[in-house]
Amino acid sequence: MLCGMAVQIPIMMVGAVFMALRQDRQLAWLFAVLIPLLFLAVGIVATRMIPNFRKLQARLDTLNRVLREQITGIRVVRAFVREPRERARFGTANDELTDVSVRAGRWLATFFPLMLMIVNIASVAVIWFGGHLVNSGQMQVGALTAFLSYLMQVMMSVMMGTFVFMQVPRSSVCADRIEEVLGTEPSVVPPAAGVATSALRGELTFDGVDFTYPGAEQPVLSEISLTASRGQTIAVIGSTGAGKSTLLNLVPRLFDATAGTVLVDGVDVRAWDPEALGSRLGLVPQKAFLFSGTIRSNLRYGKDDATEAELWHALEVAQAADFVRALEEGLDAPVVQGGTNFSGGQRQRLAIARALVRRPEIYLFDDSFSALDLATDARLRAALKPETVDACVVIVAQRVSTIRDADVILVLDDGRIVGRGTHVELLAGNETYQEIVASQLSAEEAA
Ligand SMILES: Nc1ncnc2c1ncn2[C@@H]1O[C@H](COP(=O)(O)OP(=O)(O)OP(=O)(O)O)[C@@H](O)[C@H]1O
Ligand SMILES: [Mg+2]
Repeated sequence: MLCGMAVQIPIMMVGAVFMALRQDRQLAWLFAVLIPLLFLAVGIVATRMIPNFRKLQARLDTLNRVLREQITGIRVVRAFVREPRERARFGTANDELTDVSVRAGRWLATFFPLMLMIVNIASVAVIWFGGHLVNSGQMQVGALTAFLSYLMQVMMSVMMGTFVFMQVPRSSVCADRIEEVLGTEPSVVPPAAGVATSALRGELTFDGVDFTYPGAEQPVLSEISLTASRGQTIAVIGSTGAGKSTLLNLVPRLFDATAGTVLVDGVDVRAWDPEALGSRLGLVPQKAFLFSGTIRSNLRYGKDDATEAELWHALEVAQAADFVRALEEGLDAPVVQGGTNFSGGQRQRLAIARALVRRPEIYLFDDSFSALDLATDARLRAALKPETVDACVVIVAQRVSTIRDADVILVLDDGRIVGRGTHVELLAGNETYQEIVASQLSAEEAA
């Protein structure tokens, strides 16, 4: 719209002024008075309107945010009986939006009448002064009519121009925000020509890795070194907030290490082609996230061409086959947004199956067995063993029973590795591990 009008309007305006002056010079001074007057009026209204439109957009944002939060958090709101407070919070956001909308609306409402008033005054002025000229024989009636039409064209151009101009403040606010998104420098930059193959398979190495979240003062991980080779199971245990999830997130490059290197199959993750790297990793995130669709579409998320047999096999291993079979639609059972029509444990097992379908070389389980009962947990791990002989497995867990069979257990405390060894070794000589064990198992069980 802007581009079309931006070409048309100046041509119309200059052309009409030129033609009008050719008709008659004596009324030229009317242009000199009316056009600046029109621009002045437009200027005043526009300068009042722009800040209001900016605020309008920001408040619309707030309102959307509040509403979205309330819809996603509706269960929490209900459980805490906070409806009145939430209603008030929405009310405040809504009032603020109404307030600024009304203000912007008022300026908008004055705008067109003001324009029309000036245009009509202009025609009265032309007829008045032109009439006298016609009366005294200095001007033809035809010339007067022509002059009037040209003047109207000029005025209309200005009005149309301002109409476009009025969209500018709103558009510029929107453009700023698009610009902000597009202008954000990703902290994780894919390499120009990424490595796509490696002779090694199923090897994960951390070499002196430090990590600090952007803007944080303290590092979350410091001096992490570990090697997990093919067929090995590495476990990471540590108190909540120790940095376990962060450690796993460095492997698929959700973040890049601030110092040191993370190597997958002997190649720095930063050098890997993102797709090739992704195909080697199977991450089961701490918060099992399912997409809306069906169980089938979710399982195929990592491998589009997975066969029916592969899907069922993955479900068997993940101990999810029983409950999927019990569903009337089986694999075609619907999954609602966020997967909330399944229990936490079912979601977790489906997320595990999703990673298994992919047959990756490096499995990353982030506390993925936490929602399973001990028996299911044990069965799952037993079924996982033969699946992962060709892969390396990293299990993050809080429960000692989940990780006691791991080849190497790393004890993470406050972002540092404070213990390394098998269950028996750590139990004998690591204080932090002993504390964790003591808090969970009876002495007899631990032994
Ligand atoms: N996106 C983030 N931005 C800033 N700090 C973060 C972010 N994610 C985590 N942290 C901080 O990093 C630390 C480690 O978090 P992390 O999620 O790795 O812990 P965790 O060991 O997985 O804990 P849990 O057992 O509860 O899952 C925490 O202190 C947390 O506050
Ligand atoms: Mg975590």
